[in-house]
Amino acid sequence: MWYNNILETIGNTPLVKLNKVTDGIKATVLAKIETSNPGNSIKDRMALKMIEDAEKAGLLKPGGTIIEGTSGNTGMGLAIAAVIKGYKCIFTTTDKQSKEKVDALRAFGAEVIVCPTNVDPEDPRSYYSVSSRLQREVPNSWKANQYDNLSNSMANYEQTGPEIWQQTNGKVTHLVAGVGTGGTLSGAGKYLKEQNPNIKIWGIDTYGSVFKKYKETGIFDKNEIYPYITEGIGEDFLPQNVDFSVIDHFEKVTDKDAALMTREIARKEGIFAGNSCGSVVAGLLQMKDQLKEGDLVVVIFHDHGTRYLGKMYNDDWLRERGFLKDEKLTARSILHNRDNQEIVTIDSDKSVLEAINTIKSLNISQLPVTQQGMVVGKITETDILNSLLENPAAKSYKISQVMTKPFPFVDINTSIEKISSLISKDNTAVLLEYENGKMEIITQFDIISAMSV
Ligand SMILES: Cc1ncc(COP(=O)(O)O)c(C=O)c1O
Repeated sequence: MWYNNILETIGNTPLVKLNKVTDGIKATVLAKIETSNPGNSIKDRMALKMIEDAEKAGLLKPGGTIIEGTSGNTGMGLAIAAVIKGYKCIFTTTDKQSKEKVDALRAFGAEVIVCPTNVDPEDPRSYYSVSSRLQREVPNSWKANQYDNLSNSMANYEQTGPEIWQQTNGKVTHLVAGVGTGGTLSGAGKYLKEQNPNIKIWGIDTYGSVFKKYKETGIFDKNEIYPYITEGIGEDFLPQNVDFSVIDHFEKVTDKDAALMTREIARKEGIFAGNSCGSVVAGLLQMKDQLKEGDLVVVIFHDHGTRYLGKMYNDDWLRERGFLKDEKLTARSILHNRDNQEIVTIDSDKSVLEAINTIKSLNISQLPVTQQGMVVGKITETDILNSLLENPAAKSYKISQVMTKPFPFVDINTSIEKISSLISKDNTAVLLEYENGKMEIITQFDIISAMSV
């Protein structure tokens, strides 16, 4: 028995019991391993369905170009189908996505345009806007529009839902999945609820996304939106594929919990899963009190770990974000945990009064002193107080007359223990200089903040 082409191998993915990462959950938890699709994600299903429906509707014609804003997985599904069916592909994606995902799309001959993440969807630079513009400009092109194209949910209604129903002999009690476009959970969830309206459909959301609040209050709150690390789930708008009437509850999971659980799944279950699989398991653990013995939970494992080798599976990446709890903190992680701050310095020829004014207006306690761009000393609140006590006229002195020895320098990999040992009554901060000459100041307060994350 053989398949006529790779597209015929899409679907019928295995359901595998999770045995260790679900410790503490009374229910049986089965993962639907969508990585066994040819593009290593569930998105192969909806990509092919979107193409087939567009062909039927006459929107996609022979030799045409498929355009899509995609974070990778949908692109992969579209790219594979395009190879078999003879279409070209142009994808827009964001600079947040793993390089591995982008490289994989290019491997199938697709053109990929990387756009900035931190702009509004309406911004002309956003990956949504760029793909819409390409659709207008490229002749014989069709934009798949996975967010609002209902062929997306339909693929999961026709395939993923029925597979889960059959594989569990109709015993499934809960379906849990990350929600991005909403196609997976809305489609599969709708089918399952039609078989048994008591089945609970739980969506996993991220901090920085609008779904949970919208579900709970009906309010689309722009204040909920901020950049996050988790890939594939959460949105800053409401895609038509999210059917809020099917999804009973949204649970938010932090970037850190998702990243660490992704690794745990590989280490404890031997399943090399993507970032959103970590989110789903972490979210389920958050909700474990709502599950009882006899419940049969199906979680969707959307995509494969290879796409995250440079991220969740990379210790340096985790360490830089302070995600590895027991690891030693370094200057890098201290700076990563802190908001971006421009270092403020003062020239040694300026007066003490100017230093006082700067310190006061910026609400800081110390300033590195420079001469022709070089650090030559420091001036602190204590230095100023001491000189004023000695002579009240000192405020008109040049800073060079009252400054003390410069703060010590450290490098980006210096451990927090070393940095702390350099901090004293006289040295309330350390300095760090990058190769390009840019400087950072790390204060006692930054160290305290990093240690209390
Ligand atoms: C890795 C990953 N997980 C989860 C999702 C969410 O699935 P859906 O878009 O069907 O809601 C996506 C979608 O892009 C994804 O790529």
